[in-house]
Amino acid sequence: MTQLKETTSYLQSKVKAKPKIGLILGSGLGMLADEIETADKIKYEEIPGFPISTVEGHAGQLVIGQLCGVEVIAMQGRFHYYEGYGLGAVTFPVRVMKELGVDTLIVTNAAGGVNQSLNPGDLMLITDHINNTGLNPLIGENVVEHGVRFPDMSTAYDRTLQEIAKQTAEKLAISLKQGVYVWNTGPSYETPAEIRMLDKLGGDAVGMSTVPEVTVARHAGIRCLGISCISNMAAGILNQPLTHDEVIETTEKVRESFLQFIKQLVQNID
Ligand code: HPA
Repeated sequence: MTQLKETTSYLQSKVKAKPKIGLILGSGLGMLADEIETADKIKYEEIPGFPISTVEGHAGQLVIGQLCGVEVIAMQGRFHYYEGYGLGAVTFPVRVMKELGVDTLIVTNAAGGVNQSLNPGDLMLITDHINNTGLNPLIGENVVEHGVRFPDMSTAYDRTLQEIAKQTAEKLAISLKQGVYVWNTGPSYETPAEIRMLDKLGGDAVGMSTVPEVTVARHAGIRCLGISCISNMAAGILNQPLTHDEVIETTEKVRESFLQFIKQLVQNID
């Protein structure tokens, strides 16, 4: 609590904007933050209480400004559990966003396609998620100022935002798939047997992020929209090994449509 107040006051002292939309940009998708105009950019290492991102492909800064005339606060690079942070640290920026007045969170990630009707390069609207880790960022004493002890997750991904996302994609003639995102801790990719299991469990795509942030955002009463960029087919589907380079290469290929989509989306959300 004290840390949260300190971090929030620090950011409020540096930034005048009061964004209502937060963006978390996943692996290879951070370039969206470069489109934010009149931006204040604050490196994570300068922010009291913030962890420091280590993974390749993540710049590690908060970017606060106007995206197509809409005030946003973006995380260019996020914190992952596999980096060794506790889930409190992974989700701390979401708490900070809430304190700063954010009520809508757009979460993006790179994910492996489990459902074989997906293809690398597809954008997938997350309709729901499966927490396949047994971990939960809300374990521990509940702070009532933050939210209720047992938060409802029956509409973790806001229905209205999903409709807006579908309409936006249609108008832009961008094909938007939809499906269930599964969170595994990583950092190892899955085995083919695990992927067959996730398929049977109802998962469509798998990745190493998003679920902790969305869980905390829902606890805080923030409405969420999730978009996965399918960066590869999950293990065992194609006869080839998985690499982080492939993940980054694919996200670079979808760059233009991803940028166009999110830029239009923030304008369509009210
Ligand atoms: N599995 C887990 N996480 C991922 C993958 C994957 O195949 N691709 C991108 N992030």
